[in-house]
Amino acid sequence: MYAELLPALCCPACSHSPLTLLGPLEEAGEIVAGALRCSNCGAQTAILDGVWDALGDAPVPLTPTQLTNYVPLTARGYEPAWRWTALSIMSGRHFPLREELTLLCELIQPQPGNVYIDVACSAGLYARALAQPGLIVGAIDHSMPFLREARRLSLARGQRVSYVRASAQALPFRDDVARGVAMGGSLNEIGDQQGALREVHRILQPNGVFFCMNLVAAGSSWGRVLQRLLGAGGIDFPLLDELNQSFTRVSLERRAQWIWRVVAVTLLRRHES
Ligand SMILES: C[S@@+](CC[C@H](N)C(=O)[O-])C[C@H]1O[C@@H](n2cnc3c(N)ncnc32)[C@H](O)[C@@H]1O
Repeated sequence: MYAELLPALCCPACSHSPLTLLGPLEEAGEIVAGALRCSNCGAQTAILDGVWDALGDAPVPLTPTQLTNYVPLTARGYEPAWRWTALSIMSGRHFPLREELTLLCELIQPQPGNVYIDVACSAGLYARALAQPGLIVGAIDHSMPFLREARRLSLARGQRVSYVRASAQALPFRDDVARGVAMGGSLNEIGDQQGALREVHRILQPNGVFFCMNLVAAGSSWGRVLQRLLGAGGIDFPLLDELNQSFTRVSLERRAQWIWRVVAVTLLRRHES
C-alpha cells in the first residue's frame, strides 16, 4: 500500500472518507503494516505485509472456482502456467500477452496523477502493465494468496502498486475517483455481475474509461458443452447481447468492442445523462 492511494479510499463499513492511517511501518516507501481507521463509524482495518485487508472476516464465495483461487499454488502458477497463453487458446488466433497489454494501455491512456484500479486482479497483470511512474495504481482481489503474489511480482519490478483485499461488489474507493478501471477475465467468475459493474460505474470519474476483457457464450456445440461443465464450477458465460445489456443497465457506454471467438474486449465509458 502506498500513501498516494490513501485519499482515494473509503471506509468498507460506512463509505466515509478520508480514513486515518495509524501506526504505519514503512519499508522503501511502502506502508507494509498499520491500520486504517474511520473517524465516522470507528471501523478499523489492517494493513499487513503491504496489503490493506478491507474485507476482514466478511464471508467470501466458496464456489469450486473460487476455492482454487484461495490456494497459494494456484496464485503462484496462474501467470506462468496459464495466463500467457490463455487468450491464444480461447481466441483461436495467436494473441500474445504483449498485444493484450498494449491494447489495454492504448485504450486506457493512463495519465500521470490519475487513479487506475485493476478489479479482481489475480496476480496483478493489468495493474503492472498500467503502473508507470506518476500514476496512482491500485488493485483489488478477495484472494489473499493472489494479492501476495501480485505484490511480489510488482515489487520485483520496482513498481508502485497498492493492493487491497476487497470484494468487487463493495469497492472501498470513493465515488468518482478513478480515471480508469480494468478487469481482465474476472467478470465470468465474479458472482453478482451487475453489482460489480455498478461499483465500476460508481468509482469512475465522469467520462472515465473501463477496459473489460471477458469470455462470452461459445458458438460451437462442443464449446457450449465445455462452458456448461465450467458453469457448474461457478463460471458464467453470458451471450454477447446479455453482456452488453449488463453494461447499459449501469450506464456504462460501449465505445468499442472486439470479439475473437469467445474472447470479448470492450472499452466503455461512464455515461453522463
Ligand atoms: C480470471 S482471474 C483474474 C485474472 C486477472 N485479472 C488477469 O488478467 O490475469 C479471477 C480473479 O477474480 C477474483 N475474484 C472473483 N470474484 C471476485 C469478487 N467478487 N471480488 C473480488 N475478487 C474476485 C478471484 O480471486 C481471481 O483472482
